[in-house]
Amino acid sequence: MDEHLISTINKLQDALAPLGGGSQSPIDLPQITVVGSQSSGKSSVLENIVGRDFLPRGTGIVTRRPLVLQLINRRSKKEKEAAPQANTKNDVSKQLLDLDLQDDADKKEAPASDKTKKGEKGATSQSEDNAEEWGEFLHLPGKKFFNFDEIRQEIVRETEKVTGTNVGISSIPINLRIYSPYVLTLTLVDLPGLTKVPVGDQPPDIEKQIKNMLLKYISKPNAIILSVNAANTDLANSDGLKLAREVDPEGTRTIGVLTKVDLMDQGTDVIDILAGRVIPLRYGYIPVINRGQKDIEGKKTIRSALEDEKRFFEEHPSYSSKAHYCGTPYLAKKLNSILLHHIRQTLPDIKAKIENTLKKYQNELISLGPETMDSSNSIVLSMITDFSNEYSGILDGEAKELTSQEL
Ligand code: GDP
Ligand code: NA
Ligand code: MG
Repeated sequence: MDEHLISTINKLQDALAPLGGGSQSPIDLPQITVVGSQSSGKSSVLENIVGRDFLPRGTGIVTRRPLVLQLINRRSKKEKEAAPQANTKNDVSKQLLDLDLQDDADKKEAPASDKTKKGEKGATSQSEDNAEEWGEFLHLPGKKFFNFDEIRQEIVRETEKVTGTNVGISSIPINLRIYSPYVLTLTLVDLPGLTKVPVGDQPPDIEKQIKNMLLKYISKPNAIILSVNAANTDLANSDGLKLAREVDPEGTRTIGVLTKVDLMDQGTDVIDILAGRVIPLRYGYIPVINRGQKDIEGKKTIRSALEDEKRFFEEHPSYSSKAHYCGTPYLAKKLNSILLHHIRQTLPDIKAKIENTLKKYQNELISLGPETMDSSNSIVLSMITDFSNEYSGILDGEAKELTSQEL
């Protein structure tokens, strides 16, 4: 049922994408939105959560359009063989098991797609046969990307298509789904980083443009804000956190991530921040360690980075007693449960809004007459109608289940 909830929201997200996706959508869907300064480690955090390299990299402003990233957990081949009759329900504990299994699976049989990454001959057809992980873009329906380098290239191509090859930005999102047995089902929105100084021929008001785009996403009450801050900079000066507090002053829907904990001065740590003694947030902060620039240049794999991260927290005197609450796997688990909790809470409201939107569109259409309708509107209308027909029963059921269970 948990999986079903997030996939319901995912379908709705896709159906609403033609209306401008997250930022202009008439329905405010629960999603996790990543904010932070440029180079604070946002892309690194996302890649670690996915466990794959797939985001465009480089200096300067690389993320220039919002990326709506839907991670979808699916059973691995191995599991299906082991338990063909098993219930396909993937609850959180099941998914965590998958995360634990990941190490084993990787050691025994490196995923075919890893081979593709190394550029081995003939890897493509092999990887498609054995593929357990792939990506799909909403703008390229039906095309599966088994090679994660190609996912990165497509993100770049699609960014440039709308914003040009230079440094312009656009709030029209790119929608990408990643299917994998190694992810927790989760929807994340990557946004351009906050920047102060225009570069190249960026407009002088680039800071304001980016800020406005971020605000559009995070000011919605259903947005969960993932505020990424480098631990080796002063939290009180964090641009991401400042922006988050503008729209969520009590910190009730903001979760903090502290990156670059490995780069802190000897003898300093983030314990005060974790304990809520600096800038308290209801969901707290999670310290993580991503790959440094040198690691990336040296082609360090995410898998070995995750192992190093685990070891770092377990062996560090400040963190060893709370190592369970540190690092990327814990972050992914926590985001998954926050998102589920949030969807459950907002479900009755979402259902009401879907019905209202549907009514509004239908009334508009009736008053305008069919000939004035442009084709994109009619597509959206039919998608919302389909969605509503398909899911109204489920949404009703979920809402009832909720009130009886009491969260
Ligand atoms: P973004 O601009 O916020 O998306 O930041 P990136 O993820 O691109 O990271 C910016 C730079 O910081 C890259 O060179 C990363 O390798 C590096 N970096 C990010 N997180 C960490 C970390 O936890 N530790 C170290 N040592 N370097 C990091
Ligand atoms: Na960057
Ligand atoms: Mg980035």
